[in-house]
Amino acid sequence: MNQPIHTFSPHADDGSVLLAQVSDPHLFADQDNAFLGVNPHASLSAVIGELQQTDGVDAVLATGDLSQDHSDEAYHLFARMMGKLPAPTFVLPGNHDSPHLMNAILTGPKVKCGRRLVIGDWQILMLDSTVVGKPSGHVSVDERTWLVQMLKSHSDMNTLVALHHHPVGTGCTWLDHHCLDNGHELLALLSRYHNVKAVIWGHVHQEMDQKYQHLRLLAVPSTSIQFLPNSHNFVLDSAQPGYRLLRLYPDGSIDTVVKRLSCGQFTPDGGATGY
Ligand SMILES: [Fe+2]
Repeated sequence: MNQPIHTFSPHADDGSVLLAQVSDPHLFADQDNAFLGVNPHASLSAVIGELQQTDGVDAVLATGDLSQDHSDEAYHLFARMMGKLPAPTFVLPGNHDSPHLMNAILTGPKVKCGRRLVIGDWQILMLDSTVVGKPSGHVSVDERTWLVQMLKSHSDMNTLVALHHHPVGTGCTWLDHHCLDNGHELLALLSRYHNVKAVIWGHVHQEMDQKYQHLRLLAVPSTSIQFLPNSHNFVLDSAQPGYRLLRLYPDGSIDTVVKRLSCGQFTPDGGATGY
């Protein structure tokens, strides 16, 4: 990915940045298709409805698995849906995505592939952790080289790093087979830079909030199906679809909260054993 830098000023008078993170919508071309009992178009629409009621969002980050069927139309649908929000949406690929289609289709002014965003005192660095043909992830030498270049050349900027795969274990045995296979290496690298404040990801379809040295490590629920935390085998959770809000302050501190849709809106197939 070699997308341009996107630079803009935050809305808030105090210079803080408000980001929304959505992830893993797993859209189909057919809007009526259910994904293990949850209609991903309907659940993403409900999340977008909540974000439309959220004032002051500077940017939305979509951390992968936008499409479940690798269709052109799923990406066009995603662009139309996210384009309803006043804030721009920046996307990175997940293991279910086609980076080629994303780069070809998500080129609009409102919804596009992201690489480096500069908003106020913060830079957001977006990594491609996908490996062709594998559900697990890897941050390549090229990605790590770019990351170090950005960190060294912008050492005065608070930094948030976003990617699809989880660099630490979730406690779900089955899911941790599909982790970022060099997650420890990535975190060791990032922890050497005190301007890096947080790492955020999708892929795990559940909330996580941990620390690695000074780094805040945050995962977000999916906007579609949820995976049951701490399960040995694949089990869906009845928790509702959700998203994350992050308030990034000029002093480098972060306030964040996970929001979920109200109870009972979406009921997954409790007997599902995989996808
Ligand atoms: Fe996913």
